[in-house]
Amino acid sequence: MRRHGHPGTRDAAMTTQPHQNGSVENGQTDGGSSADRACGLIDLIARRVSCRAYKPDPVPEPHLHQILEAARLAPSACNQQPWRFAVVRDPVVRRRIVEEGFLPGAKMTWALDAPVHVVIGMERSFVTHRLAPTVSGVDYPWVDIGIAGEHLVLAATELGLGTCWIGWIKPRAIAGIVGWPGSVRPVVVITIGYARDPGSGVPPRSRRKDLDQLVRWI
Ligand SMILES: Cc1cc2nc3c(=O)[nH]c(=O)nc-3n(C[C@H](O)[C@H](O)[C@H](O)COP(=O)(O)O)c2cc1C
Repeated sequence: MRRHGHPGTRDAAMTTQPHQNGSVENGQTDGGSSADRACGLIDLIARRVSCRAYKPDPVPEPHLHQILEAARLAPSACNQQPWRFAVVRDPVVRRRIVEEGFLPGAKMTWALDAPVHVVIGMERSFVTHRLAPTVSGVDYPWVDIGIAGEHLVLAATELGLGTCWIGWIKPRAIAGIVGWPGSVRPVVVITIGYARDPGSGVPPRSRRKDLDQLVRWI
């Protein structure tokens, strides 16, 4: 995001001089070298944790615009951009999402305290929902929604906000609550707000499988 420079400054960042200590210094005022920016992004990714306790403080509207912009810029199969967003700040509607739109069995009343719920829906398209999967067997729009959702979450993290993905939902009920037509299927709700205990989450790095278990180097 902004703090780490604009993509348009990438070329300037390449004109860098190595330091004696091996680091790279960039004479430009573009927010740092590409190595610095990469570290910034990895640090941001490592800082994100699911937040399940929120302060009531509202999220400034410009922050919401930045967060949605990050999601809007996500890549998608055939550039279909199947994502749709419902930004729910109204407390009555948020309560309906929690009470009528979440599946039973998981205690998620904490979501009532999050001042914003973003429902991400999937607009079904002929090309990527029907045609392409019959050839490749890959259901692309689900991938697209995942990318857009994580863009959104990382942008929120960058702005000092807590988030949590909620997939344990009743899509039809939520579509009715936010007034989407039948062609848009809710996929997840993402809660957004200021964390009650910032930094209290267990860092993802310590809770993840080792790369040895996940990667096959060829
Ligand atoms: C697609 C998806 C659905 C999720 N659904 C829920 C959910 O319904 N309720 C919940 O409390 N957390 C949900 N989570 C959060 C995960 O439990 C959490 O990301 C995971 O345990 C790793 O913890 P971390 O996010 O703190 O790193 C979901 C996450 C994803 C990506």
